[in-house]
Amino acid sequence: MVATTAKSASKDQAPERASKPSKDVDRRLKRLDITMKRNQYKGDALIEVLHAAQDAFGYLEEDVLVYIAQGLKLPLSRVYGVATFYHLFSLKPTGAHSCVVCMGTACYVKGGGKVMDALQDELGIEAGETTPDGNVSLMAARCLGACGIAPAVVLDGTVMGKQEAQQVLTEVKRWENG
Ligand code: FES
Repeated sequence: MVATTAKSASKDQAPERASKPSKDVDRRLKRLDITMKRNQYKGDALIEVLHAAQDAFGYLEEDVLVYIAQGLKLPLSRVYGVATFYHLFSLKPTGAHSCVVCMGTACYVKGGGKVMDALQDELGIEAGETTPDGNVSLMAARCLGACGIAPAVVLDGTVMGKQEAQQVLTEVKRWENG
């Protein structure tokens, strides 16, 4: 069971759902153990541990969240709450490319909504989803902290300002065409 290597998880925080990991998963879980141990299994290390998990797994699947909750002795609801609040964490597998459209107020009024609509039409997915071929993940952010260059979009980790739908579509089509 996943919980067996987490430090002293209490019974009520050890849901039956945690499944037995493969060797590959086990190796990555060890990286989480190291991060949790370095932080003395303190609950306030949650964000750092979630970062480590996302780095190791690419996204945060349920078993991993359960494992973290057990390791840090936090309610699973709290771990879910933090993982879903911050848009930098993803609970789904991410695509080869990522496109984050800021939908915060400053970006939205300057056309962020139109950029998002155009991308959803082009990719055939909603924000928070990945194309069926695993090529592109589309995400929405609340505010990227770059309101001065609204509307802002992050393409494969690069922040682009003052974007119009057509510009972003041109980039994304490049990804689609390999
Ligand atoms: S609202 Fe888009 S960067 Fe702040």
